[in-house]
Amino acid sequence: MERRAEARSDGFYFPPPPPLRVPSLENGSHPDKTQAIGVFDSGLGGLTVVRELFKTLPRERIVYLGDTARVPYGNKSKETVLRFSTENVLFLLHHRVKMVIVACHTASSFGLPFLSRHFKHPVLGVVEPGVETAVKATRSGRIGVIGTNSTIGSGAYLHAIRRLQPSIKVFQAACPLFVPLVEEGLVDDPLTRQAAVRYLKPLKEARVDTLILGCTHYPLLKKVIGQVMGPRVRLVDSAHQVALKARQILLQLGLENGKTAGRSHRFYVTDEPALFGRLSRRFLGSRVGHVEKV
Ligand code: DGL
Repeated sequence: MERRAEARSDGFYFPPPPPLRVPSLENGSHPDKTQAIGVFDSGLGGLTVVRELFKTLPRERIVYLGDTARVPYGNKSKETVLRFSTENVLFLLHHRVKMVIVACHTASSFGLPFLSRHFKHPVLGVVEPGVETAVKATRSGRIGVIGTNSTIGSGAYLHAIRRLQPSIKVFQAACPLFVPLVEEGLVDDPLTRQAAVRYLKPLKEARVDTLILGCTHYPLLKKVIGQVMGPRVRLVDSAHQVALKARQILLQLGLENGKTAGRSHRFYVTDEPALFGRLSRRFLGSRVGHVEKV
């Protein structure tokens, strides 16, 4: 698409942004078993995936990057999210990871095909594993998807479900207030319940029997979402499936670490580490010890 500079009515002039250029993401070397798994998210929500990785792959080392300086991704454009995601992958590559997990649903929705094309090490997102589970689980063929504005707007879940099972009816709803509510610790609060009732109404009316929690933060709202949707609706949290898929990929490629990893996980953020450390307990179940700012 051609980019033009806009002359604004207030007289300011902004040059057009440069096109997204990806330096070769391939680092040339073959990954080996002892290397870490790289995980990135827009912030700390991706720790829900790390939690599952710890359980499913206890011998693996994790290098985690939370892009806390630029969070949220959930209301940003595709171009911006792609640029941020590319930079995050480059950072993880620099740390010699053997595979990358895009733990952010927004980044997975916009960026996975692009990142997989440009990076020869395995890149795993969170959309496909959740979709596979939901398609297996639904009895009525009516699946609901909730996520950030960008995830829902991207149509990534919709297309992934249709690719697997074209006859399934998909109903989507963006729930942008859920992320700040979780980060404020209001997981079981009348305010959150009110937001859930409002956001989920069309999905209830559509009589979905399966609901994909298409955002890193939503598993923390399972109780409220479950109560609003009712006991007949199965909630799909992809974090566990992502960990299983990661193990499957490592096994297939002969890259599973056979040795005990020890406590050498690394956690990086792009902004103030103290807040990340404090909130990490909520997402990980335990507090992250040392967090470095990059
Ligand atoms: N990590 C994002 C996601 O899963 C939620 C937070 C954000 O908007 O960046 O979509």
